[in-house]
Amino acid sequence: MPLTISPLPQEQRGNCPAELSFGSVFTDHMFTQEYSPIVDWHNKKISPYHPFNLDPAAAVLHYGQEIFEGLKAYRNIDGGINLFRPLENFLRFNRSAERMVMPTVDPTSHLDVLKSLIDLDKNWVPDQKDASLYIRPAMIATSPKLGLGAAEDYLHFIIMGPVGPYFKGGFEPVSVYIADEYRRAVVGGVGEAKTGGNYAASLYQSELMAKKGFTQVLWLDAIEGRLIEEVGAMNICFVYEGKQIVTPSLSGSILPGITRDSVLTLAPKLGYEVEEAQLDIHEVLKDIRAGSITEVFGCGTAAVISPVGNLSFKGENYLINDNQPGVVASALYDELTGIQYGKREDPFGWIETVE
Ligand SMILES: Cc1ncc(COP(=O)(O)O)c(C=O)c1O
Repeated sequence: MPLTISPLPQEQRGNCPAELSFGSVFTDHMFTQEYSPIVDWHNKKISPYHPFNLDPAAAVLHYGQEIFEGLKAYRNIDGGINLFRPLENFLRFNRSAERMVMPTVDPTSHLDVLKSLIDLDKNWVPDQKDASLYIRPAMIATSPKLGLGAAEDYLHFIIMGPVGPYFKGGFEPVSVYIADEYRRAVVGGVGEAKTGGNYAASLYQSELMAKKGFTQVLWLDAIEGRLIEEVGAMNICFVYEGKQIVTPSLSGSILPGITRDSVLTLAPKLGYEVEEAQLDIHEVLKDIRAGSITEVFGCGTAAVISPVGNLSFKGENYLINDNQPGVVASALYDELTGIQYGKREDPFGWIETVE
């Protein structure tokens, strides 16, 4: 199916704002395509950013059959535009689609339409320090259908918006609350798919802890409430003795983060050992108290590398590295963003340029 592009006239296009927050401003255009079992994907369009016209009985509105992704485009030091491992996002999109009984999208054509969309809205890729264009591909079930079952019709879309740092404090350490009562996802459920229900399940606890001044929630496994899973929008890493990075193994209920994978690949190059392991919260807290855990940080596309300065569990606070960003998190941040913005060599071929 050919891609139709209907651009806004130049004089109606917006500008990238100078002050950037996260996820509240969107570019001039968006991509959409529709799916039905008979015609497959069709009506492939790039058009001005617009609201949808959805039937109130659309399956997504009742049973949450939806998936999404999050990736970024970076203004590189030559003025061009870099994408970071975009095919990994599109492969994960398809794994989420399969788990949620939705149609998949050919990863190469997904990348091609994204490049066309970015090219049209290239003035929106910010050039401020640490800023980027956040890209949100998503798919929703549109069939009007209240009977429970997978829908037949779907809408796939991509919207984008310029963003600054995910956390207000930038690289300042965040304060994390360890959930001891509520759970986000369970092995056998949909935790490893990027689907809205996982995030909806996290909101109640997140709002409670936000009132107490915490920035993020760290989730424990839903069966024993003992094994460390992940943070709201990031995977989590613990640094032992300043040299070994340990992150929870992919249990089936946590998101297989692309940044997590990049950290596991980059860290040995920087001289750090890496390990994926089942991490018991009680052991980890003991190791923080004993001083053998020297740093904790989260990693994710939106949050990049985010030092954790404080963990709170059952009313007790555990201070980490004096609430300061650590050397390992800083080194990884510099290397990762160095590759993303084209300031450092890309030995793994992770960068895909847009123009
Ligand atoms: C729940 C959750 N875990 C981890 C991550 C990090 O994944 P990635 O590095 O692919 O952005 C994200 C962000 O997408 C997330 O939402």
